[in-house]
Amino acid sequence: MYEWIKAFHVIAVISWMAGMLYLPRLFVYHCEAEIGSKQSETFKVMERRLLKAIINPAMIVTWVLGLYLAWSGHWFLSGWFHVKLFLVLVMSGIHGLFSRWVREFAQDRNTRSQKFYRIINEIPTVLMIGIVIMVIVKPF
Ligand code: HEM
Repeated sequence: MYEWIKAFHVIAVISWMAGMLYLPRLFVYHCEAEIGSKQSETFKVMERRLLKAIINPAMIVTWVLGLYLAWSGHWFLSGWFHVKLFLVLVMSGIHGLFSRWVREFAQDRNTRSQKFYRIINEIPTVLMIGIVIMVIVKPF
């Protein structure tokens, strides 16, 4: 059972990460679109659908299955798991920020620059690298 749950955990992780890596790219392009233009309205639909149909459900499944694995595998006392959990909490916080920014773009209230989103775009990548090293290498 553990291996099956782990497989579905990884499937959910891939979906969550795909969205977390792509959404800030959409923000970068959305910044360039004029408010009220057809392009801007299309970005709003793409952002909302990506968030509601993929990123949100994938995050919930990742968390539920991940916590089951941690409980079932008695990982709660392991050092690598503490670091992974911390990094995943930061990732979830960034997810929350993305969700707020999707709302702001939807209401044409974005005030941040393209450069800002370009920098933010790198954070999920860095976190993902740390998380995968923790869970695969388990250095401590
Ligand atoms: C949301 C909270 C999460 C929790 C509580 C959690 C917990 C766990 C646990 C306990 C395992 C089993 C480790 C083992 O059997 O060796 C696991 C496996 C895995 N997790 Fe997570 N995880 C979470 C999120 C993530 C995220 C965000 C990623 C990637 C960015 C990720 C990537 C993986 C991978 C690749 C495996 C398979 C490791 C292996 O086969 O040895 N997890 N996770």
